[in-house]
Amino acid sequence: MEKLTQLKDEGLAKIEQCGSASELQALRVLYLGKKGPIQEVMKSMKDLPKEERPAFGAKVNEVKALFASAIEERKVILDEKELLEKIESEKIDISLDGVKPAIANLHPLMLIQQEIEDLFIGLGYSIAEGPEVELDEYNFERANIPKDHPARDMQDTFYISDETLMRTHTTAVQMRVLEEYAKAGQQLPIKVICPGKVYRRDDDDATHSHQFMQCEGLVVAEHITMSDLKGTLLFLAQKMFGESRTIRFRPSYFQFTEPSVEVDVSCHVCGGKGCSVCKGTGWIEILGAGMVHPNVLRMAGFDPEKCSGFAFGVGMERVAMLKYGIRDIRDFYTNDVRFLKTFSRFE
Ligand code: PHE
Repeated sequence: MEKLTQLKDEGLAKIEQCGSASELQALRVLYLGKKGPIQEVMKSMKDLPKEERPAFGAKVNEVKALFASAIEERKVILDEKELLEKIESEKIDISLDGVKPAIANLHPLMLIQQEIEDLFIGLGYSIAEGPEVELDEYNFERANIPKDHPARDMQDTFYISDETLMRTHTTAVQMRVLEEYAKAGQQLPIKVICPGKVYRRDDDDATHSHQFMQCEGLVVAEHITMSDLKGTLLFLAQKMFGESRTIRFRPSYFQFTEPSVEVDVSCHVCGGKGCSVCKGTGWIEILGAGMVHPNVLRMAGFDPEKCSGFAFGVGMERVAMLKYGIRDIRDFYTNDVRFLKTFSRFE
């Protein structure tokens, strides 16, 4: 009996302390199986006096039942512990960073366009657009370039039909704006800029592209003079290339302006002393401009005796190349992501 009690205490303690399912299984085999210490004790029953045997037998069964229920209890606890450990070890760590989606930046030409738009909106201009597939009438004839005019050779382009073509300059939008305003009843002043893509038949190289971008500027009102043009372009040059820039006008020729000028800006790299960017001259040509030709005003429906205007056309690639130090105009159109990405810092 004593041995049995000792066995009971020892066994229950072991079950209580058992730390894993496999250990528990071994204890089950030991205490409830056929060859364990309990069986050993049972064997000694034959040495007991007959009258003590039933009580002893009952005690053995009681101990076995105790073991069985202790093992069951322990099993529930261990199973739960094991499950928790498993959940813990397999946990998905949702605090990890996600994969960042690639975010594009604006194209350098769009940066220039937005900068120019912001400047002129600040001066009270509005923005006008026109079709890239344009009528010969607006691209050439209304710009004072009739069908047989030799100036057409310099602006050869892609023709859709005899009368439809890919516009060669944003001056076509200028002609549309003039006509619209005249039709609407001479509402002056007109103050617009017209940014957009233009096309020419050209062999592409580092400085030529069959597709490029321009921004036209147009002002028409009473008493508009060349000094208005000069003040406006000086403002543009200083905002785009630095407050200490100056500009100069050189005589030129366009069919739709009279007089016409080429406009140079003092070099933003050397400040006018002469360097490789300005080819030693201290000046960089940036745009063409002039006073709107009386014929152009007349064709659109205005009286050139009563109003006057100025216009200019600036090449966006040229401005971007100068401002960002780009050497090859084709870089704007070949979509090399390494090139395009470098402009995120200007946004
Ligand atoms: N349209 C001219 C060109 O493409 C530029 C220009 C515009 C000149 C307006 C004068 C006035 O070269």
